[in-house]
Amino acid sequence: MLAYWVLNNAFQLFSLGFLALIWSPNVAARVIEVHHPRSPTGGRQVIRLDTDWRFWHSFENPDGITYNQLKAYILPSSNDFIANPSDRHQQPSSEPNITVQYADNNFDDSSWETARVPHDWAIKGPFYVGDDVPVGGGMGRLPVQGVGWYRRKINIEPDDADKQIYLDIDGAMSYAIVWLNGKLVGGWPYGYNSFRLDLTPHTVVGQDNQLAVRLDNPTESSRWYPGGGLYRNVWLTKVDKTHVGQWGTYITTEASSSSSATLNLVVSVENKAKTARDIRISTDVFEFDPETGRRGRKVASFPRISRIVSPNQSIDFNSSTTVLNPRLWGAWPSQNPNMHIAITTLYTGDGDKAIDTYETRFGIRTFTLDSNKGLIVNGLPTRIQGVDQHHDLGSIGAAFNLRAAQRQLEILREMGVNAIRMSHNPPAPELLDLLDQHGFLVMDEIFDCWEIQKNPNDFHLIFPDWYEADLRAFMRRDRNHPSIYLWSVGNEVGEQHTDEAGVAVARRLVGIAHDEEPTRLVTSAMNFAKPNMTFPTAFDVISLNYQGEGIRDTPAYSQLSGIATPPLYDSFKGAYPEKMIESSETASSLSSRGIYIFPVTSVISAPVNDTSGGNSTTMQVSAYNLYSADFGSSPDKVFAAQDQHPFVAGEFVWTGFDYIGEPTPYYSARSSYSGIIDLAGFPKDRYYLYQSRWRPDLRTAHILPHWTWPDRIGKVTPVHVFSSADEAELFVNGKSQGRLVKTQYSYRFRWDEVVYAPGELHVVTYKDGKIWAKATVETVGDAAGLRLTADRPSIRADGEDLVYITAEVIDNKGRVVPQATNYITFDVSGVGELVATDNGDPTDFTVFPSKHRKAFSGLALAIARAKMGKPGPITVTASGANLQPAKVAVKAIWGVNLVLLK
Ligand code: GAL
Repeated sequence: MLAYWVLNNAFQLFSLGFLALIWSPNVAARVIEVHHPRSPTGGRQVIRLDTDWRFWHSFENPDGITYNQLKAYILPSSNDFIANPSDRHQQPSSEPNITVQYADNNFDDSSWETARVPHDWAIKGPFYVGDDVPVGGGMGRLPVQGVGWYRRKINIEPDDADKQIYLDIDGAMSYAIVWLNGKLVGGWPYGYNSFRLDLTPHTVVGQDNQLAVRLDNPTESSRWYPGGGLYRNVWLTKVDKTHVGQWGTYITTEASSSSSATLNLVVSVENKAKTARDIRISTDVFEFDPETGRRGRKVASFPRISRIVSPNQSIDFNSSTTVLNPRLWGAWPSQNPNMHIAITTLYTGDGDKAIDTYETRFGIRTFTLDSNKGLIVNGLPTRIQGVDQHHDLGSIGAAFNLRAAQRQLEILREMGVNAIRMSHNPPAPELLDLLDQHGFLVMDEIFDCWEIQKNPNDFHLIFPDWYEADLRAFMRRDRNHPSIYLWSVGNEVGEQHTDEAGVAVARRLVGIAHDEEPTRLVTSAMNFAKPNMTFPTAFDVISLNYQGEGIRDTPAYSQLSGIATPPLYDSFKGAYPEKMIESSETASSLSSRGIYIFPVTSVISAPVNDTSGGNSTTMQVSAYNLYSADFGSSPDKVFAAQDQHPFVAGEFVWTGFDYIGEPTPYYSARSSYSGIIDLAGFPKDRYYLYQSRWRPDLRTAHILPHWTWPDRIGKVTPVHVFSSADEAELFVNGKSQGRLVKTQYSYRFRWDEVVYAPGELHVVTYKDGKIWAKATVETVGDAAGLRLTADRPSIRADGEDLVYITAEVIDNKGRVVPQATNYITFDVSGVGELVATDNGDPTDFTVFPSKHRKAFSGLALAIARAKMGKPGPITVTASGANLQPAKVAVKAIWGVNLVLLK
């Protein structure tokens, strides 16, 4: 079996050059563990701890432990990220006086469930429905709260005796506390940050060591679904006592001309040995293809440096080099995201032995954030066509999955998105790798609140103790990603309202950010701070949430209570003429895919309520996309504001995808309405409005609504068309409804007086007088069958790769029935298994892993994977009462997940 796997992956193994396969007898059923040391020659091993976990969760506190009780033991985990030595924390001299049975080596965890990490304990549900529930709509009505324990054995081999052994956790939700062999190691409370703990003092060499991780998720701790558990990757790093430190390389690039770039490198070397080491460092730079993991041409070498590193010392090795004719990293689609990789090798002076090798992926590029021209990438002004994204991946939850993230990016890219704002927390590191690889621009953000709470149990509770460490750790982890053009230290923080006190906190954070990473500018998203207040003075870039286009500033919104803000782009520009201005959140336009509610407002933007675009009984919002949250605006209003202020660098739309939790305006629902794309990944009509703006050369014409309205015969049923054309003529059953010209600051064609008659809508669009694109929508028949489409014909048999299968309810002519809500049952046979189903309906409380799923507006989604190590055929079938069933075949093949092979 193993031999077969190796044969099938020989090419990749060869090209990666550093992959070592280790037969692991205790996971014989899964056949292999992939160990992928960063180093071919140095001794570093980075082992992914994904399998063999035991997990148990309790809604009560089962062990009586609290973070506050153990805080003195946990705070020292942050010491590497506290600049002032006198602010660092002393490790208490004795072990805490508590018994923790779940951390004990002898505890019998055989009755616990097995888990594969990344793991989100809450996503399988069930949903809490109703009012008096422990987790309401805001946090997604899923059982995130309580204490979760994870246990796993890790093997420390005799060869590891002289090594340093680290546990690297990319994200654990939340208040992580870690024990090894019953000894408390440390922890990290902020669930979105990555952290490292030194296991070395507690390891026992030559045997299995018992790792135990405790997580504790409070209720009322988040404004959205946080997920729960070890929801990102966990790694075991074994390395020589003298090694490149955690996130220990920092490369900055200055492309002074197209023919040459200067690279500056800092390598932090840590010596945990008892003796001083004479260390020599060499770093070679290669072109790099993240898609295949292959190194290309060697383009530069940094000068070798030798230094003595004392015991328990960490020192920086600084050097510079030049790359001639560099292949620049640039933003899609006008530039290519060329990546480089720096391979740093540490040698001991005596004998020139390589003791550690460390890889750094980076890109050579220049960003200029210009107050008049916006973002300039390698000299080219590049408008930000961005979306805000939460971290959950829909029905598979917060557990990071590479394919799920990749699929989101593919769908966004097709729409024309070139930038992502990480709202409002550090992302999974692999997501940043993907964004680099595909040439997206990134606004990387760390906090949703500072000292002032948004929820009783949110980050404000630990902000004073942790803000510096969290901020420095976040920046150190992410600083080499070329896609990040801006750091954000906050989102709509309460400190906007507290004048000098708030600004003082802002200045502290910005000061840390500048100190940590001087090459990029720093911002914080503001929905309240005004140009004449002091708060914005703290930031390098003005990032406005909704204020640019105005909040509750038009007559349709005038009845609403709450702050009304006139459009503020001009006054911010007046107050801060030298700062770049961008919109970090726009729109908050709300809609349910495929739902149309009549009558349709005649204005271009209106708040949702029961008389305007919403229905609080069905909890659905009309997809005419003219409706918004009370503080928001339609896309059309935002576009006009942006076009009238060309100095604005662009926008991030709230949001790209729907996300779990925060179901404004209906908090009895489970998931948001603000996505351009629904929770299942199906585009709403609005997708084509953005596409027509962001990809003006694409011949688009999208008609809404659907045209199957048995109860609307003779009734006014407005027809809107989203197109990149400048003129359009609509025909209803062959009869022209008039030819319309897009006027300045209008972004859709709308025929608001159309009277419904069954038959056909047809639009012909024109650009510069010539036919540009056409579209037709027909009245369809009754639901007669199902059609399945897989997003890819084959997936990797690694138990992680996913195939997304769309089920359409169709009539007897194969046309999608737009209002179909039929029950569908999905069955997966062969080597595959069903992971989750969804339909994008924010009100559907069917648990995500269910094989039964109602269609919503004619569509449903099934997600399947291949069982680990089992290549072969997978067949997915869909059936439903009185429907012709459907089936689709997918192949599971051997393969390696290259992004995870860092
Ligand atoms: C913004 C906030 C986002 C989200 C959004 C809802 O004010 O920054 O996190 O809550 O509103 O539409």
